[in-house]
Amino acid sequence: MVKPKIAPSMLSSDFANLASEAERMLRCGADWLHMDIMDGYVGYSGSRHIWIATSWSQILLITVEPLGKAGASGFTFHVEASKDNWKELVQLIKSKGMTPGVSLKPGTPIEDVYPLLEDENPVELVLVMTVEPGFGGQKFMPEMMDKVRTLRKKYPSLDIEVDGGLGPSTIDMAASAGANCIVAGSSVFGASDPAQVITLLRKSVED
Ligand code: DX5
Repeated sequence: MVKPKIAPSMLSSDFANLASEAERMLRCGADWLHMDIMDGYVGYSGSRHIWIATSWSQILLITVEPLGKAGASGFTFHVEASKDNWKELVQLIKSKGMTPGVSLKPGTPIEDVYPLLEDENPVELVLVMTVEPGFGGQKFMPEMMDKVRTLRKKYPSLDIEVDGGLGPSTIDMAASAGANCIVAGSSVFGASDPAQVITLLRKSVED
C-alpha cells in the first residue's frame, strides 16, 4: 500500500521568505516541499545561486549536484526534456542520494514513461501533470486521471504524483484514480488554515 505524501508547491509561496515559508509548511504537516525548476533559470534560495543554462539536458545535469548537496530528497525531470540522457540522469540522481522521478506534460502519452519504469535502474516516481507546467492557480485537468488509473493498475506500489489544480474540490478525483503524492500550491498557500487543507488532502488519499 503506498503512503500519502502531501507536497505544497513553493511556486505559490512568498519568494522573499522562502526559508520561513518552507518551515511554515512543514509545521502545517507537509510531507515534502515541491520546488519547480523552470525556463533555464534555477534559483536556490538557500545557496543564493542563480544558474543559467542553455539547454534542458544541460540544466538537468548541472542541477543534480547542487540540489543533492542542498539536501533535496528527490529529483523529478520531464520525460520530454530527457529523451537522450534519462539513463545518465537517473544514475546521477541516485548517486547523490536522491529518489529519481519522471514527469509528463498533459499532451504526453503515458507510454512514454514505461521504458523508465521497466529499466534495470528505474525511476521510482511518476508525476502526472494535471496542468500545463509554468505557473500556479490553473484549472485541474480531470482527463489526466486516465493516465493515473492506468499507471496504478500496472504499477500498484509506484509513487504516483499529481501536480496542478489540486485542492479540496479536486483531490477526491485524483485519490480515487490512484494518486498518492499530491502537489498543491494555491489551495494550500492561499488557505487561512494550510494545516487543515493538508490534513484534508491526506485523508482523501488514505480513505
Ligand atoms: C506548475 C507547477 C505546480 C504549480 C501548482 O508548473 O509545477 O507546482 O505550482 O500550483 P497549483 O496547486 O496552484 O495549481
